[in-house]
Amino acid sequence: MSKTQDELKEMVAAKALEFIPQNGILGVGSGSTVVKFIQAIQAHGIKVAGAVSSSNRTTELLTEIGVKVLDPNECEPYEVYIDGADEVNDNFEMIKGGGACLTREKILASMAKTFVCIVDKSKLVSTLGKFPLPVEVIPMAREQVARSLRALGGNPVLREGCITDNGCEILDVHGLSITEPKALETQINAIPGVVTVGLFAHRGADVVLYATDEGVHEKRKPE
Ligand code: 5RP
Repeated sequence: MSKTQDELKEMVAAKALEFIPQNGILGVGSGSTVVKFIQAIQAHGIKVAGAVSSSNRTTELLTEIGVKVLDPNECEPYEVYIDGADEVNDNFEMIKGGGACLTREKILASMAKTFVCIVDKSKLVSTLGKFPLPVEVIPMAREQVARSLRALGGNPVLREGCITDNGCEILDVHGLSITEPKALETQINAIPGVVTVGLFAHRGADVVLYATDEGVHEKRKPE
């Protein structure tokens, strides 16, 4: 019998426990798969020396299970960042930000030696863009950023009622077929008022763990 998406998320979250460093800092992302990862840390009684967190929600959950959350300003680059994704392609490039935490996620990913992406099989794609691309914007720039995104061929839609942990807004860009993720990431980053684009191409994943009905599979980016 095929597994539910929730069961697949639980499987991949449990597998990710193997990547927790014994003594070093752990970077923790956001989203429902990460919630299951945090629950698995608690259920298996895994000791985490300290963590950096990509959202207020993740900080709350880590604190509840007794993990000390550190300010990234007080940390050196660290070993492992574990996070979900909305889409991942064969080049380890991702769309992230479905949970509106993309800015802090990108900061923590940039500090990590290894990015372990944890997903269920539904997130694997050949071309990024079916999932609307989140772009975090400074509120006063929203309409001008939207014009620039339309000029790039997308259809930006304001995420209603969403204010990020950084006090900004999210435009979800529909209708893109992203054949050049790195180039598009650079272009969108250059629009004044953009805080972060949810394309993780320049700094993609190093390891993708993905769950299928048969089990959890691991892909590593070639050196
Ligand atoms: C949050 C993210 C999440 O990693 C992404 O949305 C996947 O979430 P989920 O594990 O709930 O499917 O980028 O900003």
